Amino acid sequence: MKYPNITFEPLFSWVNRPRIMYSPGLRSEVGYEMAQLGGKRAVIFTDKGLVAAGIVEMVAEEVRKSDLELAGVFDSIIQDARIDIINAGAAFYRKCGADCMIAVGGGSVMDTAKAVNIMISGGNDDFQPLADQAGLWEGAKQLPPHIAFPTTAGTGCEVTNAMVVLDVAAHAKLQVTHPYCNCDIAMLDPELTIKLPAKITAFTGIDALTHAIEGITSTGAEPIADALGLHAIRLIFKYLPIAVKNPEDITARGHMLLASSIAGMCFVNTMTGGVHATAHALGALYGIPHGLANAIMLPVVMAFNASEVPERYMMIADAMGLDVKDKKPVEAAKMAVKAVVSLKKKIGLTDTLKDFKVPNDPAKLKPLVELAAADGQVSYNPHYLEEEDILKIYMKAI
Ligand SMILES: [Fe+2]
Repeated sequence: MKYPNITFEPLFSWVNRPRIMYSPGLRSEVGYEMAQLGGKRAVIFTDKGLVAAGIVEMVAEEVRKSDLELAGVFDSIIQDARIDIINAGAAFYRKCGADCMIAVGGGSVMDTAKAVNIMISGGNDDFQPLADQAGLWEGAKQLPPHIAFPTTAGTGCEVTNAMVVLDVAAHAKLQVTHPYCNCDIAMLDPELTIKLPAKITAFTGIDALTHAIEGITSTGAEPIADALGLHAIRLIFKYLPIAVKNPEDITARGHMLLASSIAGMCFVNTMTGGVHATAHALGALYGIPHGLANAIMLPVVMAFNASEVPERYMMIADAMGLDVKDKKPVEAAKMAVKAVVSLKKKIGLTDTLKDFKVPNDPAKLKPLVELAAADGQVSYNPHYLEEEDILKIYMKAI
C-alpha cells in the first residue's frame, strides 16, 4: 500500500519504559533480575484462579531456587483493581517486611500491584485520595523494585504508566497515572499463558487490538505509536485465531504476548477513544469484563469513526492483511470494520450487550451514557463524542 497522507499533532512526548524481556521459560531469571534491581524480599501479587491453576507456583518455584526470598503471596485480587483490595495489598506488603514485588496476572493484578507500589513509596494507607487525584506526577519518584509477568495477552498493563481502578462505592472506573508506576521489567514468558481459557484468550486479544486501533486513530496519534500499533495489528490478526484454537501453541502465545505489550506502548501516550470510554462504563455498571466490553463496542465505534480519519483506517486495514490497493480510504475503512467482525466470529466472540442485560431503552441507558461521556478517553476519539453520539453507539451494540 502507498503511504497515505497522514497528519499528527505537532507536539507529543513518547516515554520509553519499562525494560521488556521475552522468552518461553523466562521466569527462571526472576531472582537474578530482581537482585539487579536491588530487591531481596518479594511479595507475589496475584489472584486465586492463578494459584489454583498452578501458574503462581511456576514463578514461585523459580524464586525459591534463587537468592530472592519469597516474603508472601497476596492472592486476594479479583476482577478490576479495587481500592479496598489495593489497601489490603499494601498492608500485606508491609506486614511481610517486603522490599520488592512480582505481579503475576492480568490487568487487574498488574494495576493493583502498581497502586500498591505507589502507596509503599509514599507511605500511604489509603489509595482513595490518590485515585481521586488521578494524575500523580508532581514530585513523583522511582518506586521500589517491581517485576511483572503478564498471564493474559491483552491489557498491556505491564508497559503502561496508568491504572484503571474500580471505585465500588461510586460505581465508576477511575484512571490514575504515575510516571514510574509501571514495572521495572516486563518479563514476557508465554508458558504462563497456555492455560488461559479460549474465551479469555479471545477477548483479551481483542483488548490488545483495540489498544492498537484506538492508539493509531486517537487525536493524540503520532508516528511512533503508528509504527507500534500497526505491527501489533499484524501479529494479532495472524496469531490470535491460532492461540484460541491451539492453546498450547507457544509461537502463537508468544506473539500474542508481544502484540499486547507493543499495543500497550502504542496507546500509552496517545490514549484510546470511544471504545474504551464506553467499555469502562459498561464494566462499572454491568460488570462486563474489560476485554469483552471492548470486543462488543469495537466494530460499532470503528464504523462511527470511519469517515473522520479514513487514511488512518486504511493503514489499519493494510496491517490486517486486506488488499486495499486501488481502494479509496473510506472504502478501506469499511473493510477494516468488516475484518474485525469476521475475526470476532472466528474466535467465538458473539456476545452483545443484550447478553449482559443492558436495556434496549434510551431512557434506561441514561446513567450509562452519562458515565461514558464523563470518561477521560472520550476526548481522544477522532470524532468528539457528545451524549447523543454515545447513546447511538450503545443502541447499535445492543
Ligand atoms: Fe484496554
